Amino acid sequence: VEDPRGMYEEDALIFTRFADVQAALFNRDLSRSLDKRTFEEGNVRERNLSVLHGTEHRDRRRIENRLFQSARLAMYERELFPQIVVDTMDRVVEDGRADLFRLGYLLSVVLSARTAGVDRDPDSVDQLETLIKHVDVFSEASAIEDTIGDKEAVRRRVTDDLAEFDRAFVRPSRERRERLLVRPEGQLDEATGEQADHVPDDVLTRLLQNKHNQALRLDDGLIVREVASYLQAGTHTSATTMINTLDLIFQWRARHPEEWAALSPNRLFIQRCVHEALRVRPTNPGIRRLAEVDTKVGDTEIPAGSRLILSTWFANRDESAYGPDADGFDPLRSVPEGIARWGTSFGAGMHACIGRTLSVGTPVPESLDEAPPDSHLYGLVTLMVEGLLGRGVEPDPERPAVPDDRTKRWTRWRSYPVRVSAKVTL
Ligand code: HEM
Repeated sequence: VEDPRGMYEEDALIFTRFADVQAALFNRDLSRSLDKRTFEEGNVRERNLSVLHGTEHRDRRRIENRLFQSARLAMYERELFPQIVVDTMDRVVEDGRADLFRLGYLLSVVLSARTAGVDRDPDSVDQLETLIKHVDVFSEASAIEDTIGDKEAVRRRVTDDLAEFDRAFVRPSRERRERLLVRPEGQLDEATGEQADHVPDDVLTRLLQNKHNQALRLDDGLIVREVASYLQAGTHTSATTMINTLDLIFQWRARHPEEWAALSPNRLFIQRCVHEALRVRPTNPGIRRLAEVDTKVGDTEIPAGSRLILSTWFANRDESAYGPDADGFDPLRSVPEGIARWGTSFGAGMHACIGRTLSVGTPVPESLDEAPPDSHLYGLVTLMVEGLLGRGVEPDPERPAVPDDRTKRWTRWRSYPVRVSAKVTL
């Protein structure tokens, strides 16, 4: 399984040691800009937060970071999300059968739409399915460097899709926010009856509020792409992690039935499973960088212009960080202090994932038996996994799961059929 799709075969310097990958992620001479053709020129990523460098990156990130403060994340996971999990599962599980891919995407896209600022009809599953189709196109285009097959077709698809996404979702969401933003405090909006202080706080609103700042270069096209990229960044990674966690749990609980029976009611243990699944199955097994100037990673001299691949897959299996059994899925493993259980799967340094705590919560305390501090967050993926386990989820013996073969990122799925038995309680 190590590099089954030739991801590490290209002309790049490949780093596999945990310490080197960490050092490279923190190295400010390395950028995510890569080449214009791949990441810009009509692609959804053009001038997104994730490809900016230096002060431009810092200034954009400062605006968007505030959306991920802990009080807001606590509200999401304690008030908003549990009900969404129950409602969505009730709607899309038919005759005790479901597909984890579809379920994971439906659950994640609701929350990502909320963070990104995409308004939607809360009663329409059809509209969610449309959003998922957009996410699929944006995900493929965002990872275009790893597309297997016709990259030009991916480019054409994303250009058309962005225009349609703008027409159907961004424009109406934007118009609503603009109406709310221009009215004096407290005055009711005639169309919606909302008050000025009820402007939804999300990526779209933040960008509109800062549009007047010329230095930020927030033009209309960029606003659409930034909203689209938040929608996709939050959806496909969370859905993939949910599927990988359940896939690994199915195998682990078959081998450890007694431990599973004792530990599975404990939400902290489920959260550990999510973190461990991310370590052994990073959603992106190879993070790319470009050397802007001559620089160094560990002992290696890197000439300006070099392309680097930071192998999260191998770094997360480095025995010096995770012990001699680093290759296997073991949610009960002990990990040295200061080393993250999720490995390098969220990146680190200036491009570290902005949505990490939203997705997987705060680090799990060493002891699973003690109550965590009040500030502890479990993350939305943990709630999704727990919700499905509460419904008695198990693999469907008649329909095998299908890996996604459109990308070199081999830790992704295209479909994962399951059976579910009971009603969920959260
Ligand atoms: C399990 C879930 C997730 C995983 C595994 C994941 C993974 C990652 C990784 C590896 C990076 C860094 C890439 C690099 O350095 O080249 C990243 C960056 C990013 N992620 Fe996530 N992500 C997840 C969830 C989310 C969510 C929920 C959101 C949004 C709500 C999000 C938004 C972003 C953004 C905007 C960046 C770019 C940050 C920057 O460049 O400053 N991610 N993510």
